[in-house]
Amino acid sequence: MATFNLTVNGKKQEVDVDPATPVLWVLRDHLDLVGTKFGCGIAQCGACTIHLDGTATRSCMLPVSSVGDQEITTIEGLSEKGDHPVQKAWLEHDVPQCGYCQAGQIMSAAALLKENPNPTDEQIETAMNGNICRCGTYVRIKAAVKTASKNINA
Ligand code: FES
Ligand code: FES
Repeated sequence: MATFNLTVNGKKQEVDVDPATPVLWVLRDHLDLVGTKFGCGIAQCGACTIHLDGTATRSCMLPVSSVGDQEITTIEGLSEKGDHPVQKAWLEHDVPQCGYCQAGQIMSAAALLKENPNPTDEQIETAMNGNICRCGTYVRIKAAVKTASKNINA
């Protein structure tokens, strides 16, 4: 066990865990932030995507000991009222089906648009490629990313 001082959604959090614990489980089991989901556990599905200093990152294989001073943002911290342009576009397009993959999808889309507010279709596909949706909501995801991009640039 070791003590880690993390910044999560703008708040300082101290956790006492095994240094090898993946950030996903620190968030879910120790900080009660359960919006970030466990899918595959091997960095292949994107359900556990968070932002690390603004970059979309898989949290299921990220040891808490590797975070250091980097800021963690989860779906709970993406916006105060669920009104991030990506979240609004998701509602407008009624994207989710079962919803399980959607926190990860939204975090990937938000990171993409922060880095590139005006992505091409191809860039959207590349950025979202690692986020698997077993319900097959891909067409609506792409449409929602485009709407969010349009609204960000309006
Ligand atoms: S649970 Fe992390 S990528 Fe699948
Ligand atoms: S909405 Fe069901 S897995 Fe994506």
